[in-house]
Amino acid sequence: MCGIVGYIGPRQASDVLLSGLARLEYRGYDSAGVAIIDAGELTTTRRVGKLVNLQNALGTSPVAGNVGIGHTRWATHGKPSEENAHPHRDCTERIAIVHNGIIENYVELREELRATGHMIRSETDTEMVAHLIESYYEGDLKVAVAKSLKRLEGAYALGVVHLDHPDVIVAARKDSPLIIGAGDGENIVASDIPAVLEFTREVVVLHDGEIAVVTADSVDVFDLALRPVVPEMLHVEWDLDAAEKGGFEDFMLKEIFEQPKALRETLRGRMNDGEIQLSELAMTAEEIAGIARVFVIACGTSLHAGFVAKSLIEQWARIPVEVLCSSEFRYNDPIVDDETLVVAITQSGETADTLAGVREARLRGAKVIAITNVVGSRVTRESDGVIYTHAGPEIGVAATKTFTAQIAALNVLGLKLAQAKGTLGSERVQSIFDELSTLPDVVEAILGSLEELQECAELFADATSSLFLGRGVGVPVAMEGALKLKEISYIHAEAYPAGEMKHGPIALITDQVPVVVVATQGHTYEKVVSNIQEVRARGAQVIAVATSGDDDIRNHAEFVLHIPQTSEALSAIPATVPLQLLSYYVAKRRGCNVDQPRNLAKSVTVE
Ligand code: M6R
Repeated sequence: MCGIVGYIGPRQASDVLLSGLARLEYRGYDSAGVAIIDAGELTTTRRVGKLVNLQNALGTSPVAGNVGIGHTRWATHGKPSEENAHPHRDCTERIAIVHNGIIENYVELREELRATGHMIRSETDTEMVAHLIESYYEGDLKVAVAKSLKRLEGAYALGVVHLDHPDVIVAARKDSPLIIGAGDGENIVASDIPAVLEFTREVVVLHDGEIAVVTADSVDVFDLALRPVVPEMLHVEWDLDAAEKGGFEDFMLKEIFEQPKALRETLRGRMNDGEIQLSELAMTAEEIAGIARVFVIACGTSLHAGFVAKSLIEQWARIPVEVLCSSEFRYNDPIVDDETLVVAITQSGETADTLAGVREARLRGAKVIAITNVVGSRVTRESDGVIYTHAGPEIGVAATKTFTAQIAALNVLGLKLAQAKGTLGSERVQSIFDELSTLPDVVEAILGSLEELQECAELFADATSSLFLGRGVGVPVAMEGALKLKEISYIHAEAYPAGEMKHGPIALITDQVPVVVVATQGHTYEKVVSNIQEVRARGAQVIAVATSGDDDIRNHAEFVLHIPQTSEALSAIPATVPLQLLSYYVAKRRGCNVDQPRNLAKSVTVE
């Protein structure tokens, strides 16, 4: 949802900005631009399309200078065009700004600015901020930015430079992420940590309503009233390698293969002496015992993890669980009170819909636990407790390792609730956890074994539509498989509970519609096999994800992707992995950009 970066220090700003933007391109890739100050000039270079177009432009016409700002855009207001690309400038062209977020009152501001003689050149909401700063500027950039911010409604992470202040970048945030990498004699403003890791692992986390005045040697943070604030510092544990492709062709493939590690890290330290360790829940055993219902809110892939959680928590802790996508939860007058535990799942911790749901839930008296992968993200500050997945940075727009890590964390949560409620005894909890701890090895084995996948992908060569079926915990796995396929290969894919198919979707079946079925061993296995027969009788070609040792399934499917035997409750993680790889190979075969699918962005910070 747009990435911003700013550099000030001894290096050539264009190099740092381009390398930062490359690491932020997952946030949007409709256009990219930089504005660099040098020798009394502010030079802006912008190009439509991916970053490579900007790189080429700067390769042909280099721009020198040691201070600058850059942007990679996911278009919201105004089509992708050079005019609408950031950085945007004021009328005097002495101020340049980059912005991530949405200025909701921009129409009103535009009328006001036009009426006072400002020349608005783009269709964007962002440009209004540049003109506002211009109108409030009386020699102090920080003051002009602070006054402008007070006029804004909506969300922003901003980087601002002014020709009169060639040794300063002013940054500010509200509801959009922003950090500052604190280097040695240089500082880098960025939407996300990977953009600064080449230069530093020390990070200032900017909070909502804070303004930072950044020079090469200092980062001074203020609140909106310009009172000094002690900045929150963070040492980043992972290094640049974790944010690079490391020999893989794509981030997505690398991240799929990182799942064993992500699972191990997420489960590390969670069991001690028969007791699930989850102090982050910040609830006493009595408080947990008082939970009458659980609400899970999330979007996209995280929502699918929520559906897995429902079956685990209901089965183990016998607490009713409702799962709702965050954008519906907020507006549906949910039945939430102080006996409700709300679990907000968000990889990025910045998803606007989920954050709004968190606020709504807390207003209604619920306790909110966030499950996120990003340390210091906004959801961590807005929730009562945080359970981190330790999956490392996920750059591919399609979530993979964070999904399975979320499920691992939710398994731990389910066991904790069951233990506190007394619905599972310690021995049972220990034995489930022991099996959970084998899943990293199970996933490793799957990743090393699926030779048939490339061949399977052929089935989708000319497909325009496909179905994904499953039962029980296989339903969210099917949903996730379908989402992956449509996101990165642009093939229509719909997931259904297998038993529901005969109530309508079976009309879609032809020999041109591949059907992927989660058919692992479980109490509904026979039913799933019957459902496979129903679709095959209508010409469908079937790919089945099945349990090792189930050779009979070969009589019912064109392709079988075998995964090791696990208990049914824990089968979601291993069953997902072949589907991630399947969608990867289908997309690659169709020549799609798997890391940056069209129209998408990694974190969706607008409603
Ligand atoms: O950061 P979040 O987990 O809150 O993101 C939620 C969705 O936007 C995200 O899962 C999206 O669906 C991904 N593109 C899935 O691959």
